[in-house]
Amino acid sequence: MKNIVILTGAGVSAESGLGTFRDAGGLWSQHRIEDVATPEGFARDPALVHRFYNARRVQAAKARPNAAHLALARLQTHWRGRVTLVTQNVDALHEAGGARRVIHMHGELAGALCAACGHRWQAPDEMSPGQSCPRCAAPKGRPDVVWFGEMPYRMDEVLTHLAEADLFAAIGTSGTVYPAAGFVEDAAHAGAHTVELNLEPSSVVSSFAERRFGPASRIVPEWVEELLGRAT
Ligand code: OAD
Repeated sequence: MKNIVILTGAGVSAESGLGTFRDAGGLWSQHRIEDVATPEGFARDPALVHRFYNARRVQAAKARPNAAHLALARLQTHWRGRVTLVTQNVDALHEAGGARRVIHMHGELAGALCAACGHRWQAPDEMSPGQSCPRCAAPKGRPDVVWFGEMPYRMDEVLTHLAEADLFAAIGTSGTVYPAAGFVEDAAHAGAHTVELNLEPSSVVSSFAERRFGPASRIVPEWVEELLGRAT
């Protein structure tokens, strides 16, 4: 076994104090997706959308990586083959935990994007409507996050890694948002062993060959130690 691809979702950051989307009391029970996570919502009320992401940016900046983030970074460091970390999360807790080359397929809270020219820059703590682009000066600054109806980032790269995967793991994700929810099928098709690590069974649990349930801060370090123990 050489190439490992790991997909993470909000559940991996839950124990760092960042709310998930679909658990009871999650972000999508407090905000309407159409209002805060679509291009149409942003066109309608950019101030509302900026307030939503500004609050999440402040919260994420205060959060610390938990044992699951640290264990995944350890796996990347000590595994003899390649460990590709693909996250749907817009926080930077994998990096804060020491992970490298993280693919943020849904973008990053720390980034700003010009909707006119595509230029990217570091987001200020507070973004506001009409924020001008440092390159083209258009008043078109937006959070560099992927909204519903938009194409996730770096999909070619992700699909190449999945096609070469020997082991695929999905951690802390509900399996409800595509294309990420379909990665298990892509990996299985490529011959990879597949494992779900989650608090509760996801919507696509039946597609996985192996399942482990519990809080990420416990089950991810256990899984990583098993893998590293097996390899040495
Ligand atoms: P969800 O909120 O849909 O799912 C979180 C998953 O984490 C659930 O399956 C929980 O059971 C699990 N979970 C909760 N606490 C956990 C813990 N302590 N340890 C392990 N697992 C835990 O979040 P995502 O699947 O990440 O997209 O959501 C996918 C996408 O939907 C997000 O990237 C976002 C959202 O709408 C966009 O905004 C485009």
